[in-house]
Amino acid sequence: MKLFTNKELLNLAKKGGYAVGAFNINNLEILQAIVSAAESEKSPAIIAVSEGAIQYAGLAHIVSMAEIAAQMASIPLSLHLDHGKDLNIIQSCLENGFTSVMIDGSHLPFDENIAITKKVVEMARKKGVSVEGELGRLKGIEEKVSVSDQEAYLTDPQAAGQFVKKTEVDALAIAIGTSHGAYKFKGEVRLDFERLKEIAGTVEIPLVLHGASGVPQPILEKAERFGAKLPGAKGIPDEAIQRAISLGICKINIDTDLRLSFVSALREVLTTKPEEFDPRKILGPGREAMKQTVQSKMRLFGSSGKAI
Ligand code: G3H
Ligand code: 13P
Ligand code: ZN
Repeated sequence: MKLFTNKELLNLAKKGGYAVGAFNINNLEILQAIVSAAESEKSPAIIAVSEGAIQYAGLAHIVSMAEIAAQMASIPLSLHLDHGKDLNIIQSCLENGFTSVMIDGSHLPFDENIAITKKVVEMARKKGVSVEGELGRLKGIEEKVSVSDQEAYLTDPQAAGQFVKKTEVDALAIAIGTSHGAYKFKGEVRLDFERLKEIAGTVEIPLVLHGASGVPQPILEKAERFGAKLPGAKGIPDEAIQRAISLGICKINIDTDLRLSFVSALREVLTTKPEEFDPRKILGPGREAMKQTVQSKMRLFGSSGKAI
C-alpha cells in the first residue's frame, strides 16, 4: 500500500467513533513491532517520528523503512512528524515522503502559534500532506495549581475554534490534563472531560490526545523486578482513554508505554541470560513486548478490525 495521510485515517476514525494510535519510532524494531501489531489486529496505525528520532536514526533511514513497511503492509499506515518545531526539519519531511506533519507552536503566544501553524499549512498543502496543530500545554493538572493557572495552559474551547478556523489545520492536539512521560499524576488522576466536550462541540476536525500512555502496572513491575527504578510512575487509566474517545478524540499518541515494554523485556533478558550477547536475542523479546502493547492499545482505541 501507499502511505496514507493522517487526514484520511482520522476522518474515518471520527466517522467510526474510534481512535487511531500514533506510535513513536526510533529504530527498526519499534517500526516492526507497530506494523506487525497492526497486521495482527487489522488496524490502521500512525508511525510517529519526533525531531529527536530523526536526529538519532537519520531522515533517510526513517523514510525508507516506513515506505518499505507500507509497501509490504495490508493495512493503512501514515508517516507523521511528531512535535515539529523547526521549519527546516518540517520542510525536509515534506520533501521526503512524510504524509503528515505536526507543527507544535503550543509554547508560543496565541497569535504567533496561529502564524507559524498557518505557514506550515501553506507549505504542506503544496505536497498534499496533512497538518496537526497544538493549542494548550501538556503539563498535567496538579492538585496545588490554582484553577486560573490551569486555565492558562489547558485548551480554551473558544480559542480552539478560532485557531482551527484561522489556520485550517486538519487535526488539533489539545490539553486536558495529560502530560508526556511516565509521571503524569502525583495524586489522583485528573482530566478535564468537560473541557474536551466543549472543544468537541466547537471544533469539527479530529482531536488529538498526546501524553496518553497508561504506564501499565504489570509492565512497570516487571521492569522494576529486573532493576528499573521508576518510583511513582503513573499513566492514564484505560477507562479515561475510552471516555476521551467517546467524547471526540480520534488520534492517541503513545511513546512511553513502548519504551517501558521494550526496557522491561530487555532487562529480563540481560538479567536472566547473562551469557547472551547476540543483539537479535536481546532486542527480539523487546520487539515482541512492544508488539503486544501496541495490539492492546489498538483494541482499547477501537481501531482493531478497522483497516480499510
Ligand atoms: O512527545 C514526544 C515523544 O515521546 C517523542 O519523544 O522527543 O524524546 O523522541 P522524543
Ligand atoms: P506518552 O509519553 O504518554 O507516551 O505520550 C507520547 C506523545 O504524546 C508523543 O507525542
Ligand atoms: Zn506528544
